[in-house]
Amino acid sequence: MGLASIVIACIFLLILHSTLSFSNEESDSEIYIVHLEFPDDGVSASSEELESWYHSFLSGCKAGSSDRDPRMVYTYKNVLQGFAARLSPDDLKVIQEYGGFVHARPQRKLALHTTHSPGFLGLHQDFGFWKDSNYGEGVIIGVIDGGIDIGHPSFSDEGMSPPPAKWKGKCEFNYTACNNKVIGARTFTMGTGTPIDKYGHGSHTASTVAGNFVPGANFFGQGNGTAAGVAPRAHLAICKVCSAVACSESDVLKAMDIAIDDGVDVISLSME
Ligand SMILES: *[C@@H]1O[C@H](CO)[C@@H](O)[C@H](O)[C@H]1NC(C)=O
Ligand SMILES: *[C@@H]1O[C@H](CO)[C@@H](O)[C@H](O)[C@H]1NC(C)=O
Repeated sequence: MGLASIVIACIFLLILHSTLSFSNEESDSEIYIVHLEFPDDGVSASSEELESWYHSFLSGCKAGSSDRDPRMVYTYKNVLQGFAARLSPDDLKVIQEYGGFVHARPQRKLALHTTHSPGFLGLHQDFGFWKDSNYGEGVIIGVIDGGIDIGHPSFSDEGMSPPPAKWKGKCEFNYTACNNKVIGARTFTMGTGTPIDKYGHGSHTASTVAGNFVPGANFFGQGNGTAAGVAPRAHLAICKVCSAVACSESDVLKAMDIAIDDGVDVISLSME
C-alpha cells in the first residue's frame, strides 16, 4: 500500500506549496468562479464545444464563438463545468440570464498554513485514505538533509510502534536520544560529529515528510491546528549531510548508500 501514496501526497504538497505561493501574489478580488451546466447532456460535449460555449458567455452570447476574451482567466472541464473570469457587477447580471448558468461567486483567497495542508488535501485524521494507508506505519523514510532538532514535538514517538525488524541503522546521538519516531541519525559532514540540526531546514523537511501529530500548533495564534507530516506514523532515519550553506555530493551519495543498507524504504532529498 502506502509508499506510492505517500510519494504522490508529497508531490501534491510541493505543487500546492508553489501554487499557493503564486496565487498569493495576485490581489485581484474581481475574479469569479462561474458554475455552468451544459444544456441537456453535457457529458457528451467535447472540450472544444465546452470551450466555445464558455466563451460565448463573455462575448455577448454569440453561441459557438471561440473569440478570446481577456476577462477569461481559466476554463474548467473536469473539476467542474464552468470558468474563472474577471467580472464587473454588470457582467454578472448579464451572465446570470444565460441558459446553463448555475452559480457564480468571487474566488476565495487561500492563505499559506502548513498546519492545514493535510486538511486541504482532504486527508482526515480519523477516517478515509489517510487512515486506510495507516499514516505510513512501518515505513522507514530516510531524510538526507541538515540533521534534526530531536527534541521537537513533531519527533515525539507517541503512538509509534518500534522499528521494523529489518532496521539496521545507528543513532549517533547518545543512546537515549533516538526513539520510535527517529529511529536512526547519522552524520556525514566533515568536522561536526553530531546529527543536530543547527539551521532548521533538516527538521523542516523531516517534519513535513513524517512529523507526528501535534495538536494546537500555531504561530502566535495564527494557523492554529493539528500539525502533521504526510506520513505521520512513518519512522525517520536522519542522515545529516548539509551545513548552513551546502551539502556536498560525496556526502549525499554516501548517505544514500548507507541508507539502503540500513533498510530505509523511501529516501527524501530536498536540495538541488
Ligand atoms: C543526549 O542527546 C540529546 C540530544 O542531543 C541531549 O539533549 C541530551 O542531553 C543527551 N544526553 C546525554 C546524557 O548526553
Ligand atoms: C488552538 O485550537 C485548540 C483547539 O480548538 C484550542 O484548544 C487552543 O486554545 C487554540 N490555541 C490558540 C493559541 O488559539
